[in-house]
Order: sequence, then C-alpha cells, then structure tokens
Amino acid sequence: MLGCKYPIIQTAMGWVALPELVAASSNAGAFGFLALATAGPKEAIEMMDKTQALTNKPFGINFHMFQPGAEEIVQAVIDKKIKAVSYSRSPTPEYIQAFKAAGVVCIPTVGALKHAVKAEELGADAIVIQGSEGGGHTGSTPTTLLLSSVLESVNVPIVAAGGFRDGSGLAASLAWGACGIAMGTRFMMTKESPVPHDTKEAYLSANVEDIKITKKFDGMSHRLIFNNYIKKIDRSNPINLFIISIISAWKYKQLTKASYADLIKSFFAMLKGDDLTISQSIMSANSPAIIQKAMVEGSPNEGAMPSGQVAGLISNLPSCKQLVDQIMDEFSFAAENFNKLEGDKQ
Ligand SMILES: Cc1cc2nc3c(=O)[nH]c(=O)nc-3n(C[C@H](O)[C@H](O)[C@H](O)COP(=O)(O)O)c2cc1C
Repeated sequence: MLGCKYPIIQTAMGWVALPELVAASSNAGAFGFLALATAGPKEAIEMMDKTQALTNKPFGINFHMFQPGAEEIVQAVIDKKIKAVSYSRSPTPEYIQAFKAAGVVCIPTVGALKHAVKAEELGADAIVIQGSEGGGHTGSTPTTLLLSSVLESVNVPIVAAGGFRDGSGLAASLAWGACGIAMGTRFMMTKESPVPHDTKEAYLSANVEDIKITKKFDGMSHRLIFNNYIKKIDRSNPINLFIISIISAWKYKQLTKASYADLIKSFFAMLKGDDLTISQSIMSANSPAIIQKAMVEGSPNEGAMPSGQVAGLISNLPSCKQLVDQIMDEFSFAAENFNKLEGDKQ
C-alpha cells in the first residue's frame, strides 16, 4: 500500500521528522513521515520539495486539521503526488475524499479503540495504533491491549506503534496480526535525526521510569522525559502555568509566522475540537516553544522532550540504514525460530 520495502514506518515528530531524517528512513527501506503540523504552509511546502529532492522513494506527511494554512498543505500534497498522509485529528470528510480521489493513502494514528472505529468509518486506508508507552501525545491503553482490541473491531490494515525498537518487536507485532510497526523515538535517536547532541545525550541517559505522562504540560495526555523543568510544570499551580503559556504563545506566533487571525482561529478550533477548557487551550499554544528549547535549541534541561518509554532501552545512535538493516536481521532470526517451532510440531 505504501510502496516501501519493509513493514516499518518512521512516524512524524515535530521539528525532528525533517527532510533529512524522512529521506534517510525511506532510502533505508522504511516509510518516513514528514512532520508538517509544526510548520507554516510555506515552510511545509519547501519541506515536501526538499524531501522529494533527497529521495526517490515514497514518503508521507503528517498535518493537523486546525493548523494555519491547512488547506494549502492539502492542495500541495495532492499536486506533488505525496504517497500518504497521517493525522491524529481527522480532517473533514471532504478533505479525506479529496485525498482518496487523488490516490493519497490516508493513515491516521489513534490511541483508543473508539478512535480506530471512527477512523475506519471516515475512510482510513490503514491505521497506526499507538499504545500508551509511545512518545508524545498518547492514550492510556498499552500497545498489546490496544492492538488486540482494534484488530478485533476494525478491518483495515493495522500498524502497531508504542514501544518498538527492534526486530523482535516487529516479529511480535506481525504474530499478533498487525502488518508492521511504526516508531518515533527509535528513529529520533539516529544519526540523521536533527536533534542536537546534548538533547540526544539526555535521551540516551533516560530510564524507562523517567519517561512519564502528564496532562499539565499542554492540557493533553503527553509522555515526556521528566527532567527538572517538566517536574516543575507538573507541580505548578494554575497561575504559574497561565503566565508561562502567554509568553510561549507569543514565541509560537513568531515561529510559524501566523497572523493573529490564524492564531485565534486555531485557538478556537482547538477549544471546539477537543472539548478543552480555555486554560488548557492556552497551555496547548504554550507547548511548541518549550519543546523547541530542547529539540531545536539543544537545551534539554530547560525544555520538554516528548519520548516513548522505549528511550530507556536505547543506548546507541545508528544511521537509519544500520537501524533498519539490524531490525530486519533480528526479524529473520525471530522468524527462523518460529519456523523451527513449526518444524518440530510436524
Ligand atoms: C520527539 C517526539 C515528537 C513527536 N511529535 C509528534 C507530532 O508532531 N505529531 C504526531 O502525530 N506525533 C508525534 N509524536 C508521536 C510519534 O509520531 C509516534 O506516534 C510515537 O513516537 C510512537 O511511539 P514510540 O516513541 O514508542 O515509537 C512524537 C513523538 C516523539 C518521540
């Protein structure tokens, strides 16, 4: 369906899944998704062009229905014949129809069974399910349980995400009934990932127990490395959080070059779309600037580091090709063991 060599997806990660990482993932035989939800429309289009210049393999883009310039991005995806789109907040049925009519594969990511059922109803061609151990915004059901329940209720192909890093995980997910794995954290911890050195070091030294969920950071269930800064936010009272959120919303406006009108439109759309309270919606505007402190500026102690718990089990920074080759070698080893068992049975 996606035209990639191996059943491995590199997921979208804001300020991380940039053209170099996406092209390296797709060139290695996986399928890379470009993170465009954190870009303005002009930058998003430049990133699609740049990725197309770096690889002749298919790749996809991730976008956000309520981001400034979403319509321009949708049109560019169709015009540039991008292979697939991923999203966690579903576009309107008209957008989905436009993608499907143009042959663009629609592959949303969901964190709960009811969202998987809805995504299929809305026309998803395949679905990535992300269990709670996954990085960034995440649900509360572990990968294994979410995968089982979705496989029982949904008919489109399912890709498993949340906690994967190796070939054993790929073999396990296929045995379970998924058609592949999707990984964020593992691809973020590679040579081609643009994350600055000090921040990569912080990920390398994190333990599984340091990577937890908080709702205080942006009003949603978000899995992050609990550095001192996030620990402070997690303990903050509403007044402190309000002050931080106003400052960072201003920084976000400068970053995306969004107009005040765009910003207010996005704010109200978030408010309406997710039943957030006003203070949660402001906090949501706050988070990009804090994430960038760590992921772009390289100050891991002053910023936020979205992370899957799997970072606690990762101790190296291979190239994407080394990573994908190793996963496929480990997968072959696991498959041989399955075959041996099958042989013993006969
Ligand atoms: C640093 C980081 C940034 C992320 N940013 C986004 C994002 O912008 N949009 C999105 O849909 N998911 C985002 N995610 C979630 C990933 O796309 C993916 O679903 C998740 O990492 C899978 O779990 P894993 O980390 O255990 O592999 C992010 C994850 C990480 C680790």
